[in-house]
Amino acid sequence: MTADTLTPNKAASSEVASPAAAPRTAALPHGPGPVVECRGLTKVYGEGDTAVHALRGVDLVVQPGELLMLVGPSGCGKTTLISIIASVLDGSGGTCRVLGQDMLRMPERDKPGFRLRHLGFCFQAFNLNPCLSAAENVAVPLLIGGWRYGKALDRSRELLQQVGLADKADAMPDQLSGGQQQRVAIARAFAQEPDLIVCDEPTSALDSATGEKVLGLIRDMTHSSHRSVIVVTHDARIFRFADRIVAMEDGRIVPLPAASGIPLSIPPV
Ligand SMILES: Nc1ncnc2c1ncn2[C@@H]1O[C@H](COP(=O)(O)OP(=O)(O)OP(=O)(O)O)[C@@H](O)[C@H]1O
Ligand SMILES: [Mg+2]
Repeated sequence: MTADTLTPNKAASSEVASPAAAPRTAALPHGPGPVVECRGLTKVYGEGDTAVHALRGVDLVVQPGELLMLVGPSGCGKTTLISIIASVLDGSGGTCRVLGQDMLRMPERDKPGFRLRHLGFCFQAFNLNPCLSAAENVAVPLLIGGWRYGKALDRSRELLQQVGLADKADAMPDQLSGGQQQRVAIARAFAQEPDLIVCDEPTSALDSATGEKVLGLIRDMTHSSHRSVIVVTHDARIFRFADRIVAMEDGRIVPLPAASGIPLSIPPV
């Protein structure tokens, strides 16, 4: 796979493309080119007899404005891959460039600032601060980024309204259902309009209707503001929201498995 063969709407053999991908117009901090470019990326946890080869040479390119879904069986390396892309986990070998920056060689001291300016996360564990309300949780990246408290809270309430939680803005996390906490985490990931958002199983705690609504929202945000989003999912109900679907197996990108239930073409939503 090469970067120039992987524009949205243009599928490589292991991927499915949607006819609904967005045009690219926004200026990105790294200039033209892919938002993510992994080449031969490896990750080994531990060493010796107990070493786990979680990534065995991943090649992956994500373009600006693209909503990419990453699918594959449990343990195949999906969370590991997006964690390296999100600069919260070190890779072992190969390259992983995000917005032109080499994640494997970026000094540790530069990573928090890079994440704050450019990345949004929504991980499998929602990681909400139990001492902050829903709106304050969403506001955290904005406050760290220098927003005034009042403005940050206004923006948080706006985002919570978009994910259907306008009436829960003042609720504490332990007063929210799993699905509601998940939506707070999604709102937080989008709060400071990052260039790249990674979501790990964003619909796992949502009922069908809410899951589709949230994915529709993520897709609209992706296309309207030319964010790029990587969504790890097992949820066949949301495949139709993807611009492209990429499958992993045993630490590698593989052709989509025939019996996976993934459509061969994604109809426009
Ligand atoms: N911190 C760790 N130490 C050792 N092994 C790990 C660690 N984290 C993950 N692994 C192993 O690496 C492999 C890939 O794990 P990963 O969490 O990336 O899989 P996944 O595709 O996200 O799975 P799931 O769909 O269940 O979330 C698995 O074999 C897992 O046991
Ligand atoms: Mg995982």
